[in-house]
Amino acid sequence: MTGKTWIIYGAYGYTGVLVADEALRRGHTPVLAGRSADKLVPLAERLGLDHVAIDLEDEDDLAKTVAGFDLVFHAAGPFIHTSAPMVRACLKGDTNYVDITGEVAVFEQNLSYDQQARQKGIAVMSGVGFDVIPSDCMAKYVADRVVDPTQLELAIASTGIPSAGTIKTVLEHIPKGILVRRNGRLVRYPPGKEARRIRFVDRERTVLPASWGDLATAYRTTGIPNITTFMAFPERAASFMRWVAPLSQNLLAIGPIRRLLQKSIEKIVHGPDEHTRQTARSYLWARAANEKGDECQVWLETLEGYHFTAVAGVRCVERIFAERPQGVLTPAVAFGADFVLEIPGTKRYDQLNTL
Ligand SMILES: NC(=O)c1ccc[n+]([C@@H]2O[C@H](COP(=O)([O-])OP(=O)(O)OC[C@H]3O[C@@H](n4cnc5c(N)ncnc54)[C@H](OP(=O)(O)O)[C@@H]3O)[C@@H](O)[C@H]2O)c1
Repeated sequence: MTGKTWIIYGAYGYTGVLVADEALRRGHTPVLAGRSADKLVPLAERLGLDHVAIDLEDEDDLAKTVAGFDLVFHAAGPFIHTSAPMVRACLKGDTNYVDITGEVAVFEQNLSYDQQARQKGIAVMSGVGFDVIPSDCMAKYVADRVVDPTQLELAIASTGIPSAGTIKTVLEHIPKGILVRRNGRLVRYPPGKEARRIRFVDRERTVLPASWGDLATAYRTTGIPNITTFMAFPERAASFMRWVAPLSQNLLAIGPIRRLLQKSIEKIVHGPDEHTRQTARSYLWARAANEKGDECQVWLETLEGYHFTAVAGVRCVERIFAERPQGVLTPAVAFGADFVLEIPGTKRYDQLNTL
């Protein structure tokens, strides 16, 4: 990576720290960035890295700072509030942009910068984390094995726990309801409905439709017009969701209630500890089908989600520096369906032994 410079914005957040640690482990020396100098200094001292404090709201200063780097790794979310100013700064400064969003609205928003990114000769790649690298690679894998696929289903199960940042981001989007893609368009879907059982690599689980970023990225990667993304829930939680989900959707639409809950979560949730990150596993399933009934399924087992995000996010940076892709790209479009297999601890299965 000689000569390439990059910054991690949101470096002192839960995931930002993991990305910085992984970057150092891989021999990089990114500059740590965020809006609070007080929070940056102790981290920069601990890791022996430079730091820069910048506010996203000061767009001129942001653009000038970003222009001095080859790439920004954006780790400050919810990205619905943070992504747009950073993408604009990167476009001004001819600086590559990656982020770890999983938010459908942010993927859709960033896809609209494709032409500008191509003109500038930079890559804009959202979702270089657990959502969406494995699922995007699996979507491409199954779509490439079915003639004229019209339906795609993706399901995700994790044995770990979420960070405060992830919960805050989910709460931000709950009022918008559950989305699915039908005939190429994003449409709302009744929350808490259509529970079904899906077999993962380790065992069968109950899943419910959930709005994963793949509703945007898998459409871009595969062109399949009907996409449903599912998330696994414990059996009991899944049956509660039928009435809890509509209730929480209405409650969280009230801004002050949502913000109060988000503030409380900051104080009580600390994210998975080192032991959980090293031992928990993630499981994914994908299926593409066509009108004739031909189908292809695939299963994947990989690292715990935050561990995966740090490892795979840094690999994406390395691939962007090495291959210089341009435009707004999904991970699988840029690096292929097998990219996920480069992440240590990842196994893909074309078939499973019956239970
Ligand atoms: N795609 C994936 O698989 C994946 C994996 C991990 C995380 N994520 C997402 O990444 C985001 C961060 O997660 P996390 O666990 O690291 O959360 P976190 O610990 O709460 O960290 C959030 C970071 O974002 C910064 N931030 C928030 N709003 C900001 C703003 N308006 N301007 C500048 N900085 C701002 C925070 O800085 P302050 O402390 O100064 O507020 C902090 O550094 C979340 O949206 C999460 O959903 C996605």
